[in-house]
Amino acid sequence: MNHTAAQLNSNMSTFSSTGTLSPPSHSAVVVRSLLAVTSEERERILKDVEYNIFAFPAGLLTCDYLSDSGTSAMTDVQWAALMRGDESYGRNWGYYCLLDTFRDIFERGNSPQYAFQGIITGMIDSEYYRTKLLVSSHDGFVNGGPHQLERPNFFIVPQGRCAETLLFSTMSSMITEGAVEGAKVKPAIISNGFFDTTGANAAVAGFELQTFTQPGLSDAFPLHLIGKKNFFKGNLDVAAAEAYMDAHPGQVVMILTTITNNWAAAQPVSMANIRTTAALAKRKDIPFFFDACRFAENAFFIHEYEEGYADKSIAEIVQEMFSYIEGFTISLKKDGLSNMGGVLCFKDKGMFAQTYEGIGLRLKERQILCYGNDSYGGMSGRDLMTAVTGLYEVTKKTYLQNRIGQVQSFAQKLLANGIAVLSPPGGHAVYLEMDEFFVGCDRKPDDFASVGFTLELIKDFGIRAAEAGPFGWEWDKKSPEERKKIPNLVRFAVPRHVMSEEHIDYTVAAIKDLHDRRHKIPNVVITRGKDMRLRHFSSGLQPVPVDHTITGSYMEEASRQLSRLAQVIKMDIGAKGQLLNALALAGGKYGQRPVPQELDMSKWLSDVSNDHSFFEYSVAMDQDTGDAELRFLIEAQSEGSCNIVQMQESALRLNDAIAKGYSSTVSLDRLKILQDLFMPSPAEGIFAAWHSCAASKAGPEWKIYLNPSGSGSGTAFSVAREAFERLGLSSAWELLASTITPSDSVLYFALDLSPHPEHSRVKVYLAHPGASASAIAQKHAQICPNACAYSIQQFCASMSGGSLGPYEAKPVLSCFAFTSEAPDRPVGTVHFPVVAYAENDAEIQRRMKEYMNVASVSAAYRERYGKMISAVQRRPLDQGRGLHAWVSLKQGSRKKRTTTFYLSPELFGPLPTTHSKLSNGTKHAD
Ligand code: F0G
Repeated sequence: MNHTAAQLNSNMSTFSSTGTLSPPSHSAVVVRSLLAVTSEERERILKDVEYNIFAFPAGLLTCDYLSDSGTSAMTDVQWAALMRGDESYGRNWGYYCLLDTFRDIFERGNSPQYAFQGIITGMIDSEYYRTKLLVSSHDGFVNGGPHQLERPNFFIVPQGRCAETLLFSTMSSMITEGAVEGAKVKPAIISNGFFDTTGANAAVAGFELQTFTQPGLSDAFPLHLIGKKNFFKGNLDVAAAEAYMDAHPGQVVMILTTITNNWAAAQPVSMANIRTTAALAKRKDIPFFFDACRFAENAFFIHEYEEGYADKSIAEIVQEMFSYIEGFTISLKKDGLSNMGGVLCFKDKGMFAQTYEGIGLRLKERQILCYGNDSYGGMSGRDLMTAVTGLYEVTKKTYLQNRIGQVQSFAQKLLANGIAVLSPPGGHAVYLEMDEFFVGCDRKPDDFASVGFTLELIKDFGIRAAEAGPFGWEWDKKSPEERKKIPNLVRFAVPRHVMSEEHIDYTVAAIKDLHDRRHKIPNVVITRGKDMRLRHFSSGLQPVPVDHTITGSYMEEASRQLSRLAQVIKMDIGAKGQLLNALALAGGKYGQRPVPQELDMSKWLSDVSNDHSFFEYSVAMDQDTGDAELRFLIEAQSEGSCNIVQMQESALRLNDAIAKGYSSTVSLDRLKILQDLFMPSPAEGIFAAWHSCAASKAGPEWKIYLNPSGSGSGTAFSVAREAFERLGLSSAWELLASTITPSDSVLYFALDLSPHPEHSRVKVYLAHPGASASAIAQKHAQICPNACAYSIQQFCASMSGGSLGPYEAKPVLSCFAFTSEAPDRPVGTVHFPVVAYAENDAEIQRRMKEYMNVASVSAAYRERYGKMISAVQRRPLDQGRGLHAWVSLKQGSRKKRTTTFYLSPELFGPLPTTHSKLSNGTKHAD
């Protein structure tokens, strides 16, 4: 299943789940110009506010994703309604309108009465009051006429958390006073996820909080299903909730379901889940409430993704959702499309009202004491009118399609750019998965690198988002058990009606840019207020630059990078251990030396890596399955390590050590037959021998690379032929020789050091200076039964950035592998020296991605490739080249295609970027 950026982009916001194109839902009427602020200016301000993102002035930002709460741009209808706000102290008309709007939205489904319309248009008289606004109403969430006075059940407050305070504190005092039959001293509330103020309000009132979110929030979600399916990851885990209730009889006094579940990355709750929760609450005889902040967004998810709801209107769905509950709190700052406001209401004469007999009058008393009388509860008459109209605007399907579509398209654009987001995206926000973002960057939770990311985002781009990870969740103060549950996310909450696609595209590009240079994103320390409650609002911080200087020994660094590679390819832990042991053996005593800051030019300059590091890693990946094999290549060093004679001695010593250490899997027998050919005395050449070790299922597999030019460059061809003859492979040599042309040279000769001569390989590496893709492909097609000339040309073209050659900057190599079992059926591999054909590693990565598209590799392959590069890189990819040294394509039997990436450890830094063009005949300085 491969999903290209183009595919991901194609099912974005404008298409609904049924594939129909939905038109834009609104146009701009008023706009606000943004200030032009430079990065330097924002950096100064960040310093002034002690790097606390909450304290950064919003007016200096370009995109503010801190919250979707109260940040909506209102519609022209709301602004019109605002002008009709009445600021009278007692019974302003907004009060009546809001009451009736709640009945319309939450209870009347497809039959609203729109009592507010007469107020807005001024078409009212006393009869209008009597027939529309003052009508008697009872048994629902909003009593009307005398019933609201006798049995108040609807309470206006300034915002959501005030409704929570009212509810929990009043319930708690009634329980403490013994006014509630059967309630325990430390009552508990169960939820699918408490928003932080909700949880805090309940806890302060003396309730124990029990959160049971359906498992699997961070489970991988098939990306091509985004916009097509939804697993309602915000659901309450009803079974777990019931088990808790059974184990704690009488303790739970309420179930509170948050729709959408802000605690669980804005994920929706299904109607089925609401229904089963209601049934559970009924069985247990406890009230079921909603935290209904984003009810309309939740209803839209049900409409789009839950079976049986596609043909129902949003109004009907909302009506059904609310038919299952006893009451709810709501912040009108979200799905009220208003800048302020909140409400608490509960069913008249319902189970809650009966259990907490007389609670309405008590709530009203507290409301008046804390916020203002019941006519306004702390809201201005104008804001009441904006909330009234906002509730109708926010439940329009066209609006919701656009709203949810925008968040979804934001997430998809990030995914298409290789940025991991919690998937599928929820209703009001996109959450970046920061462990994925920083993969391979060695960031520990208490480095607070995700906060560093948010600071860079403000500084460089004027974009504000909030960390919801180790800093916000106070990782440093938690027990090891608690730490395991702390996610590492950054939330981009999308304000309603504020952002255009231009904002989203700008933000995606900014995040991508920071991702490209994630290695340089600073960590953060808390300089003030570490132990304050809700410290993210008030503490002082300081970014700390990350130092990538290598401080350990050669082998420490090699083990670190190899271990990371092993981790990203999900290598078996035992195999990893074996490979690291093999590395330690090959590195020897010399490997324990500290890596010098600069290359010592007086020593032997190894040709294993571009920067003369004496080892290199490679990962071979199956294009279809993504299965990967990890290896290293190393040139044995010694204290002397200055000339070819000493290098030869070191190589021989390593041979012996390997033979001794791996006596059951290694044999030097075949090597001994050839030794005088490749390791003559006196010796010549750029290397004596290199060793490689691959982690295979059967244990470490050793191989030796020999230099056919050991006794002079003119002898390579005859040395190789002689070696084939001595190994009884004369016919194989004949076959190989038939494909060699005068410009080719024999560069390496490699031998599996296996005790099974029949299937252990003999490999010859040919260099093809100035050859074209088709000439190289032709050679393979001529002698290798599995070769596909077209695939080779396609590979060379992708690796070179679109050229079919001739490749003159550095020769392309071919490796032909023979066995005595099948000497006439060699397996060919084309090695492309990507480092010499691209400006920098970012360019190579782009080419790799293009190649992955043309070669239709598996999703696992794609993911592993990206992580593998992250595992070894210490710098932004566009700042130098050399990390990708070579990429090879092996065409095995049964159409098995393997690409191998040869990665430099870059101990001495990258090669400079280059602007050279292809085929210009110049050789790069590598
Ligand atoms: N419940 C939920 C689910 C919320 O998301 C919020 C606020 C509240 C209650 C409290 O409402 O702010 O009007 O007092 N959430 C905002 C946010 C602040 O950014 O997620 P409030």
